[in-house]
Amino acid sequence: MNTEYLRITDERADADAIRRAGAVIQDGGLVAFPTETVYGLGADAFNAEAAQKIYAAKGRPSDNPLIVHIADIASLDEVACDVPDQARQLAERFWPGPLTMIFRKCENLPKETTGGRDTVAVRFPSNTCAQALIAAAGGFVAAPSANVSGRPSPTNGTDVMEDLDGRVDIVLDDGETVVGLESTIIDMTCEPPEILRPGAVTVDQIREIIPAVVQHASGADDEARAPGMKYRHYAPKAPLHLCNGAVVVDQIQMACDEDKQKGLKTGVLTCTENAPFYRADCVQVLGSERKPEEMAHRLYSCLRAFDRAGVDVIYSECFNPEGIGYALMNRLEKAENQTETE
Ligand code: TXA
Ligand code: MG
Repeated sequence: MNTEYLRITDERADADAIRRAGAVIQDGGLVAFPTETVYGLGADAFNAEAAQKIYAAKGRPSDNPLIVHIADIASLDEVACDVPDQARQLAERFWPGPLTMIFRKCENLPKETTGGRDTVAVRFPSNTCAQALIAAAGGFVAAPSANVSGRPSPTNGTDVMEDLDGRVDIVLDDGETVVGLESTIIDMTCEPPEILRPGAVTVDQIREIIPAVVQHASGADDEARAPGMKYRHYAPKAPLHLCNGAVVVDQIQMACDEDKQKGLKTGVLTCTENAPFYRADCVQVLGSERKPEEMAHRLYSCLRAFDRAGVDVIYSECFNPEGIGYALMNRLEKAENQTETE
């Protein structure tokens, strides 16, 4: 397949590109598009065959459900039923934005879109290009992150092309995404509602509306609740080790020195403050410890940079798990604990 790569540059080109991309989705094709979190790989949510194409393009197991993206709050009731009041309050407060909610699905939404489940994950993204595309495509775009299964999610058009060139009809490039980590996912089908994946909308923010909300314990991921969690996630190619403690810099440097003697190519993931202290083959800097948003934003491009450098092993510091730092540490822990592969 020949992939058309369209950079969103000026308004006229935008309108044209988006109309064309919307038509491709309506015809059952695949379009990679920007959102404020990470890039998505979109198809018509009501077209079962198109949803199956997503799984093929990503190399993703078909029991791992897709998120349905909408471009206005009213569309929620066309894909979800039994939407509780608290969910409407969350939508009022956080949509459009990086929050995905899980509900019982409507009858006519194909099971191919929801990985065979009776529930559906729904999100209303804030990126204006995404909103225009969803509207042009008919209002309901099923999309996982636009990476090949098991690789870090893409946060810019170049990273999307690296994974999906030749596998999708169109790639819309709108530059760097804002957040850089996938949306917060909350399951609204249980009582109390449960956060299955942390993201930019934090548990503290959700607690203001749902005081009883619980966080799904990481490490206790069970397949029935969060199917995507059992698969290899967010991972660079080399094994990643998380290091913690008062002498973390010395500890990591020592490990690097030992590995180098064994002939291994070493990578270190660090913050601006500690970066000058490392001697390794590839040092990737997330940003200042004082700017957790910036660190989260850069995580996946740093992980991809390790792949490009061809390192054999990666050592990462642990970072303050407050605010979006919690989601950052969640992704790093997943990158460290790779038990199963897709
Ligand atoms: O920020 C995001 O959420 C991005 C952008 C493109 O919107 N999308 C994204 O999709 O991260 P994906 O497919 O990479 O991750 C969605 C996760 C998967 O782990 C999947 O298993 C879970 O959401 N999920 C989707 N529908 C579900 C459902 N009905 N029940 C339980 N988990 C579900
Ligand atoms: Mg993903």
